[in-house]
Amino acid sequence: MHIVGNRPQFIKLAPVSKELHQRGYKDIIIHTGQHYDENMSDIFFRELGIDKPIENLEVGSGSHAEITAKAMVGVEKVCMKYKPALVILYGDTDSTLAAALACCKLNIPIAHVEAGTRSYKKSNPEETNRVIVDHISDICFCPDHPSVENLSKEGIKKNVFFTGDVMYDSFLQTKKKGIESNLLEKYDLEKEKYILMTWHRQENTDKKERVDKIVSFLEQINCKMLYPVHPRTKKALADYDLWERISGIRNLIIIDPVGYDEMVYLQSNCKLILTDSGGLSKESVFAGAKCLFMADLNVWPDLERAGWITHVDFDNESSIKNALNIVQEGKVERREVDYYGDGHAAEKIVGILAQKL
Ligand code: UD1
Ligand code: UDP
Repeated sequence: MHIVGNRPQFIKLAPVSKELHQRGYKDIIIHTGQHYDENMSDIFFRELGIDKPIENLEVGSGSHAEITAKAMVGVEKVCMKYKPALVILYGDTDSTLAAALACCKLNIPIAHVEAGTRSYKKSNPEETNRVIVDHISDICFCPDHPSVENLSKEGIKKNVFFTGDVMYDSFLQTKKKGIESNLLEKYDLEKEKYILMTWHRQENTDKKERVDKIVSFLEQINCKMLYPVHPRTKKALADYDLWERISGIRNLIIIDPVGYDEMVYLQSNCKLILTDSGGLSKESVFAGAKCLFMADLNVWPDLERAGWITHVDFDNESSIKNALNIVQEGKVERREVDYYGDGHAAEKIVGILAQKL
């Protein structure tokens, strides 16, 4: 049983479910309903060819406690109904935490995909989820080597596997499929001459002062930007009376969230990715566009060391200046890295599960 609820989890689930089918296993999907808009959820199931969830727990939006508590109750019920031999969880969201807590108490074995990533910042809400889920999982599948080391430092050494990153599998499979998109023509964008931006982190949306600083930064960028806006950020901008101001930035094109096919296309054709997304900052290297990272977190240490990711600190003038210089240069550098495996992480994961089961 896979338990998922958020946009990035659908992308991570796709190759694992596909591989399970290829080997003849029966898997079912439970959707917590934490993400529910068509373009935050259903579109990914369609584009990535994922089976329809057998149940949707309809948790919806709310505070951390509300989401976690509702999802826990729902997960407990479906686990008692379907009696899975194993649950597979992905990433670090409140849905992941809720599912892990409920399953652990029911003594259902838990496999955690994307285990071991750490920001070492307690103020980062996903960090609590990562640590707890890893500690109560039975099998940890790590996307990179630093994650294996992180788990080892916390005493988690048994049943820890470096498999590579399932997001890399998804990225390559989508590229191979061949993506047709008219978004460049539609928004009058030229290949490798625009910035692709996403921005949704709690740390960057829950205070007006921070949102204001980010808008001021965007006002200084002298390059076309395409921005598929996350509903959380759209709401924050409206609540803080900043929606009109950001909409007034002439070179910034704000659009609704896009599906994964279009996202892979947009990443592969842009000159720079400006984001606070953990997933996108890593995908930047798959797409070959450097990343300006709008968060004070270091979740992908290999990319930091390789100089692929540059942080922008909105409280520091020289960091802002440096970021603006990088935007100006915007050198596109396509290169291969092997930090995240070879695009066959799902095969390794299912191979290990097959042995264990
Ligand atoms: C969640 C995860 C975050 C992950 C992100 C991926 C937690 C704590 N956070 O953040 O780790 O990076 O998903 O995108 O689990 N909303 C809608 N429609 C939707 C979904 C959300 O309008 O389909 C709006 C609601 O106003 C909601 C807000 O977005 O309150 C935030 O949604 P939520 O799921 O709480 O957190 P994310 O910011 O999406
Ligand atoms: N993504 C997408 N459409 C969008 C924005 C993001 O398909 O409009 C994809 C993106 O390419 C990546 C994943 O969603 O694969 C990242 O999700 P998100 O940024 O919501 O979460 P995070 O990675 O920060 O947890």
